[in-house]
Amino acid sequence: MVKAILIYGSTIGNTETLSKSVEEGLKISDVEVAVKNVETASVDELKDYDVIILGCSTWGEGELQDDFVSFEEEMEKISLNGKKAAVFGPGDSETYPDTFCDAVDILEKRLRNCGAEIIVDSLKVDGDVDPKCEEAKNWGKKIGEILKNG
Ligand SMILES: Cc1cc2nc3c(=O)[nH]c(=O)nc-3n(C[C@H](O)[C@H](O)[C@H](O)COP(=O)(O)O)c2cc1C
Repeated sequence: MVKAILIYGSTIGNTETLSKSVEEGLKISDVEVAVKNVETASVDELKDYDVIILGCSTWGEGELQDDFVSFEEEMEKISLNGKKAAVFGPGDSETYPDTFCDAVDILEKRLRNCGAEIIVDSLKVDGDVDPKCEEAKNWGKKIGEILKNG
């Protein structure tokens, strides 16, 4: 069975909410997933998993959520060759049209630079996350299906 880790960073709880839905979807697809807040996660533990899912909101103007900043920097030092990965996050295109969900793109780029393979289009959730939980669950399910199909 593949082992997945989902690491999220969330200031006011929106990414955390989406994480729960993604987790639900993964479990429906029989993916064993450990879920961690990035505050308590270490880059070293990524090597213990086959699949790495990162969830991060965008703050400032196109910046990573605060707790993710040092984690992303630490990732520079590691290789994730052979790992599969996916990224999601909430943002607000109305107020921040030029930097909508930039954190998602920053993390995808970092994962690719570490050698990981992005296996699914990122999930960018615009505005209020509550109506988008079903979409997040389906995205998690889809990851499980992609993993099953090799
Ligand atoms: C000060 C501030 C700056 C923000 N900057 C951006 C931004 O550059 N791009 C974006 O898409 N969303 C931006 N947002 C919207 C947040 O990403 C959004 O509210 C998100 O749902 C917060 O998720 P969290 O609770 O998981 O941190 C910003 C919000 C605030 C309050």
